[in-house]
Amino acid sequence: MLAAQVIGVGSYAPDRRVDNAELSRTIETSDAWIRERTGIGERRIAAPGEVASDLATAAAKRALEVAGLKPNDIDMIVVATVTGDRPLPATAAIVQRKLGVTNRCGAFDLAAACAGFVYGLGLGNALIGQGQCRHVLVIGVEVLSRFVDWQDRTTCVLFGDGAGAVVLGPGAEEQPPGISGVHLHCQGSMSHLLTIPAGGSERPASEASLAEREHYVRMEGQDVFRVAVKELASACLSAIDAQQLKAAEVDWVVAHQANERILEAVAQRSGIPFERFFRNIARYGNTSSASIPLALDEAYQHGSLEPGSKLVLCALGAGIAWGSCVVRWHLPKPTPRSAAGP
Ligand code: UT7
Repeated sequence: MLAAQVIGVGSYAPDRRVDNAELSRTIETSDAWIRERTGIGERRIAAPGEVASDLATAAAKRALEVAGLKPNDIDMIVVATVTGDRPLPATAAIVQRKLGVTNRCGAFDLAAACAGFVYGLGLGNALIGQGQCRHVLVIGVEVLSRFVDWQDRTTCVLFGDGAGAVVLGPGAEEQPPGISGVHLHCQGSMSHLLTIPAGGSERPASEASLAEREHYVRMEGQDVFRVAVKELASACLSAIDAQQLKAAEVDWVVAHQANERILEAVAQRSGIPFERFFRNIARYGNTSSASIPLALDEAYQHGSLEPGSKLVLCALGAGIAWGSCVVRWHLPKPTPRSAAGP
């Protein structure tokens, strides 16, 4: 099976920045607590009327531009999200329309929460490897600001809005595989740890569910923290072991940005130095499925990635679902024309 490679990357974050000081004016929290416990300094919040497909489309346009492709060159659109525009249709269908893709390519949403982008990469890699698609657009997008309880200080300080996208294309046979060592896991027995209880078929919207604020994110933070450290460290090692790589050979770990302390602990357990963990949580908070492609684009735009760079991607979130893979970067550093970060 021919492995896929990343041939384009882009991201978009809403303009509005909400810093910790602004939050501390409406809930009982402080900049010191949020920074110490999470590493977050500010997050972006979508403007009224700005929806997931808008963010996703903006990120996808940038990724297509870097790839040098037209919208109709795309054969499949995968949108990883748990905060799409509507329950129906898939946000990917709306993105297809907004991008101006008229070739009737497949388009669907993938719900694996914070692990969604890594799941999407694994899927895109398989579709290209089997010759079913040539170019797959994988987007991670969230507008979590509409799903967090702004009265609950234990969750609302953590999340933010954003989008990131990659275009995958077939890799060259003479090069090391662009995407490899894909590991995808879920432990459904822990699904209660991070959830939005109402709004689905189990508990449709009702006055009672609204009154009990069950339409918002609820999380057992400490339990998720513990499982995240354990499973992300082991997922990083599984991905690099599968490629006969050593921890010292990894150039960058681009991990889901949920908590800087999680990343420190994963670094310690995995033996990959903490300095190699790309971090932008301070400026975006936890953007769930958008966090890895946002970080990837930022690393690319900053010139931190170059052909031959060896990356480990890993993420864990609601489900509890997690995943990891190795990405060998083949894109040249950005030219001024394609430099358009979030
Ligand atoms: O993206 C999906 C995956 N998600 C994650 O990986 C998140 C994993 N969990 C975490 O990152 C951390 O558990 C949190 C950041 C959510 C919480 O940090 P913590 O160190 O586990 O804090 P805690 O829940 O143990 O709370 C410690 C104290 C409590 O007060 P008491 O009971 O000790 O008096 C909380 O009420 O901090 C209090 N607290 C706050 N104080 C100020 C909780 N939230 C806040 C807040 N501001 N925003």
